[in-house]
Amino acid sequence: MNKIIAIVATSSNRVIGVNNTIPWKIKEDMAWFRDHTWGHPVIMGRKTYESISNKLPGRHEIVVSRSIQGKNSAKSIEEAIGMARTKPLYTGGFKPEDRVLDNMPDKPDIFIAGGGEIYAQTIHLWDYLYITVVNKEMQGDTFFPNYENRMRLVDTVVKKEDYRIEVWSKM
Ligand SMILES: NC(=O)c1ccc[n+]([C@@H]2O[C@H](COP(=O)([O-])OP(=O)(O)OC[C@H]3O[C@@H](n4cnc5c(N)ncnc54)[C@H](OP(=O)(O)O)[C@@H]3O)[C@@H](O)[C@H]2O)c1
Repeated sequence: MNKIIAIVATSSNRVIGVNNTIPWKIKEDMAWFRDHTWGHPVIMGRKTYESISNKLPGRHEIVVSRSIQGKNSAKSIEEAIGMARTKPLYTGGFKPEDRVLDNMPDKPDIFIAGGGEIYAQTIHLWDYLYITVVNKEMQGDTFFPNYENRMRLVDTVVKKEDYRIEVWSKM
């Protein structure tokens, strides 16, 4: 069975967004997101999808929405996961000359990439959580749910002055 992995960046007080944007930009974290989701299906809510200016090349984006319809949209979380488990459709700026297919994983994981509503509704499904914690309190309007009581810390893979990246697993 494909693993279900939530991937997120939060402030130290759990903020993940403000005015439908992410209130920080950390290049290394963007690279971490790209490297780990590459070739995998990525599920996100309609608001997050609309907030991303560049679509995600080399990944099968699935947008959860009750209001929009399209070949990459799902009307429920269950439908999105079902789509992710079927043959991936690579969207975004994929071009055959990028040779993306050479780097595709044999067995894709399913990434949950937010936002707040989608994290809250899928937390019981996560096998792993990849979390970047920015060492700063911030003001925001969207928050990450409490995961500490259902998951355990497996590894701190990056530890910098400004942020750290942790891997958590379900208990
Ligand atoms: N820091 C991070 O790592 C990170 C990651 C992702 C997003 N974000 C931030 O999070 C914020 C967006 O989060 P959000 O909570 O406002 O919105 P969201 O979760 O991205 O999207 C919410 C939308 O998803 C659809 N939806 C939710 N539950 C559904 C269900 N059960 N079935 C069908 N559709 C469903 C609805 O779309 P319709 O209204 O179309 O029906 C709903 O309006 C932004 O600020 C974004 O930048 C941060």
